[in-house]
Amino acid sequence: MKLWDKGFKTDEKIDIFTVGADRELDLLLAKYDVIASRAHAQMLASTGLITLKEGTLLTGELDRIEKEIDAGNFTIEDQFEDMHSKIEYLLIEELGDTGKKIHTARSRNDQVLVAMQLYLREEINSMKALTLDLFDILLNLAKTYQDVLMPGYTHLQVAMPSSFALWLGAYAESLADDMLMLNTAHRICDQNPLGSAAGYGSSFPIDREFTTEALGFATMKYNVVAAQMGRGKVEKHTAYAMAGLAGTLGKLAMDICLYLSQNFDFISFPKEFTTGSSIMPHKKNPDVFELIRGKCNKLQALPNTLAMLTTNLPSGYHRDLQLCKELIVPAIQEMKSCLEMTAFSIKEMKVNTNILEEEKYQYLFSVDTLNQMVLDGIPFREAYRQMGESIDKGTYTPHRDIHHTHTGSIGKPALQEIRNKMKRFSE
Ligand code: ARG
Repeated sequence: MKLWDKGFKTDEKIDIFTVGADRELDLLLAKYDVIASRAHAQMLASTGLITLKEGTLLTGELDRIEKEIDAGNFTIEDQFEDMHSKIEYLLIEELGDTGKKIHTARSRNDQVLVAMQLYLREEINSMKALTLDLFDILLNLAKTYQDVLMPGYTHLQVAMPSSFALWLGAYAESLADDMLMLNTAHRICDQNPLGSAAGYGSSFPIDREFTTEALGFATMKYNVVAAQMGRGKVEKHTAYAMAGLAGTLGKLAMDICLYLSQNFDFISFPKEFTTGSSIMPHKKNPDVFELIRGKCNKLQALPNTLAMLTTNLPSGYHRDLQLCKELIVPAIQEMKSCLEMTAFSIKEMKVNTNILEEEKYQYLFSVDTLNQMVLDGIPFREAYRQMGESIDKGTYTPHRDIHHTHTGSIGKPALQEIRNKMKRFSE
């Protein structure tokens, strides 16, 4: 059934091509289409565009459809183009002429927009919660291994002492930046587009304030043309936020792969958390983190893909916009699984507590040793020269008893301050 059926049948190949992945993707969005349809029906009743009785019948039936969706029983068969057609069909089948009134003063263009925004709002909240879970795990690990030192690198060359509290705390604090981006994406999605109809509003005296409140939107997208322009843009801003998060997670995954290598040997995982090789019997590979790294790299390309898809589209609705769904929906699932798997695996990480005892790390202490000479009264450049000379001559002995006291350093990794910052940034 086509909502726009005018008595002729669309060519089957055209139908398959234009529907694309909608029947599958709309299964995930249908719940939000129902929620928005319910607010729309209540608004139609409150403004007198339908009777109160009709409003009650429609909302009752939409409640029932929502339960079917929650129970996993909602389907979109081949005769329906999308969720909108199937839901309207169900309303008409059950309520006859009353069902036929649901589409008064709206269009699928604002229907899909509002469903997408409600979906994104909820998914961003899920990503925020998963980010906070990972943040807690990282900070707890940082606290557990607060005093364990590890090498710090510049140019991948042994540089200066670092610690597990610094390394793990760094990723926790970096997640606080990503939280700001998630919140901004949430605010952008939190503006009601419903009522923009096909993109230019309606001649019916609809009440957009009513649906804004009923759907719990923080505000509305006032201008109907701006509301329609949100399509593609809300997805892109969510993708920007995910790209930030993916950047942090991908870098962490890379560090883990590196530090797990036998040549580094800083950390280990229980064997159940690694994977084997079909030929090398000794292998315990970090496939989970390699996949997280790869998936996060892909996720960082998403804003660009969405930008390419929507760049130079004029204002107003275009069918190109349908393709945003097949980019953003699977990406959100991927992002959530990367967050979950990072948290699930990193919880089990063990750290090697005597890394710096190895001879190859002795030069890590050269700066601390020379700083002690400066504190003992030798001017910095002179101390630097003397230290260089003793390294060249082989007379250097590391000063291992290090004292870093400033905020954010080995001696004061500011874990509580980072926790407080995340609390502020996540509100
Ligand atoms: N599946 C369509 C989309 O996602 C729904 C809107 C269809 N609107 C239209 N004018 N053909 O964009």
